[in-house]
Amino acid sequence: MMTDREPMPGTVLLSAQDIAAIVARLGGEISRDYEGRLPILISLLKGGVVFLADLIRQITIPHHIEFLQVSSYGGSTTSSGQVKILTDLEMSIQGRDIIVVEDVVDTGTTLAYIMEVLRLRNPASLEMCALLRKRSANPVAIPVRYLGQEIPGRFVVGYGLDYRENFRHLPFIAALEPDPAAS
Ligand code: IMP
Ligand code: MG
Repeated sequence: MMTDREPMPGTVLLSAQDIAAIVARLGGEISRDYEGRLPILISLLKGGVVFLADLIRQITIPHHIEFLQVSSYGGSTTSSGQVKILTDLEMSIQGRDIIVVEDVVDTGTTLAYIMEVLRLRNPASLEMCALLRKRSANPVAIPVRYLGQEIPGRFVVGYGLDYRENFRHLPFIAALEPDPAAS
């Protein structure tokens, strides 16, 4: 359906309090599982930075952080299926324990590509942590070891997630309304 109305954050799916509880749980799980090791958390720019910043303050064991920027969506709200590395990691991950920190898994195309690229660099281990996973129609199978919450297959913004670079600063996660991807 065509509309003249500019899409805006509408229904709140996760409040700031909901997110804090999820992040605390994930931080606890990672702290327990990686006790005695020195994992590298790789945040995917830009959407993953707010999540990473909160997550590392809920992790009680020593760890390092790195950033990776890939592009798949451009200005669109549906996955283009094409991924490319825009900014690469600074450090070597060979022999290291890696946790990729992603904001939302939609089709899984982005994470599948990143896992493939990182695996070729011979880390000791490679796991995924995602705040959100959509119940997508045709997802690529991605084993997300640390999952925050499943959400409906709607376009969401806030807590790092953007619509055309807007709304990343919102402390909650809301559905964009009207949904620009809906037909
Ligand atoms: P996928 O490759 O289809 O799994 O898409 C994953 C990437 O698309 C995420 O890293 C996000 O940056 C972006 N993305 C997917 N869904 C949304 C959304 O609802 N809001 C904002 N960004 C999204
Ligand atoms: Mg994005």
